[in-house]
Amino acid sequence: MLILRMEDEHLQEVRDLDYLVFQRNTPRTILNLKNLKTYDKDGCFVCIINKKVVGYIFARTFGQEGFLGPAGVHPEFQGIGIGKELINKSIDYLKTKCKVIGLEVLPEKTKNIEIYHRLGFVSALPSYIFDISSNDIDTLHKFNNLDLYKVGTRKREDILNSIDKLNGLKASNVSYRNDLLRSISCKGSICVTYVDRKLCGFFAYSRIPFPFIWGIVEDGSYDYNVLKECLANLFKYSGYRNCKIIVNTRYKRAVELLIKLNCKLDKSINRMLLKGYEGNYLTESKALIFRPWIS
Ligand SMILES: CC(C)(COP(=O)(O)OP(=O)(O)OC[C@H]1O[C@@H](n2cnc3c(N)ncnc32)[C@H](O)[C@@H]1OP(=O)(O)O)[C@@H](O)C(=O)NCCC(=O)NCCS
Repeated sequence: MLILRMEDEHLQEVRDLDYLVFQRNTPRTILNLKNLKTYDKDGCFVCIINKKVVGYIFARTFGQEGFLGPAGVHPEFQGIGIGKELINKSIDYLKTKCKVIGLEVLPEKTKNIEIYHRLGFVSALPSYIFDISSNDIDTLHKFNNLDLYKVGTRKREDILNSIDKLNGLKASNVSYRNDLLRSISCKGSICVTYVDRKLCGFFAYSRIPFPFIWGIVEDGSYDYNVLKECLANLFKYSGYRNCKIIVNTRYKRAVELLIKLNCKLDKSINRMLLKGYEGNYLTESKALIFRPWIS
């Protein structure tokens, strides 16, 4: 049995295996898998037996935040330790650069929850996935909004620096720059909102792993209006009408705001974090973070 870094040449087999183990209606595309791998190509592995891929794991990092999955082992080879080998391989890699190591798992996947407990993960607060529609949001025209695509390179760089400095994130060393650049290169959409010339929120549209909107709003008396206006402008700039938006329930205020916006709760997903890598340093953050994976 060989555990190797996942390369493009493995993706065809990974696609077939992923289709089989998750019993998907349609297989993922190779492009989708390639994109998943770009979140951190050094944290993704395959298990090879008799020259065939029988297991795989993806990992992704955002600065010092690291997340595992998806992962799968061929049914004929399950229960003999391959999943554990793969997960530990990714964990060992994530430990070299991350302060947070986590994953998300559907509540009904009780077998997996048990497996992750055995591997040293503990339960954290769940994440909510909401459906959001442009019909629910009207523009207020209160603040200054910018489409990141319409500004010059230098201005864009200034804005990316301001996003990096958004309240609470500086101490955590988390940077969204790679994701934002990926969003730009994938012809996504990004909107930033200023209150009194200070950048107080941004939202980006992303297609991976499914179409969703993510972003941050500074927690303050104007947070609801910044959220509303930034989202309304993002819908306007991009032309998108319906999307998912995800928030971890540790951001109680963020959940309240989405409910107030009439977003429909679609799913609640369990979050688990590796003991010792639970990311408590973000508890003091004043930023409301609307995105998957961030603890
Ligand atoms: C989840 C999955 C990747 C695990 O891979 P695996 O190779 O079967 O797991 P392992 O044999 O390495 O077992 C890992 C641990 O889980 C335990 N375990 C395995 N099967 C189990 C089961 N049916 N119930 C409870 N625990 C189980 C093992 O005992 C082991 O713990 P231990 O080392 O303390 O004994 C595999 O079952 C799979 O592909 N499932 C379908 C896809 C999926 O759900 N992926 C995960 C979500 S992204």
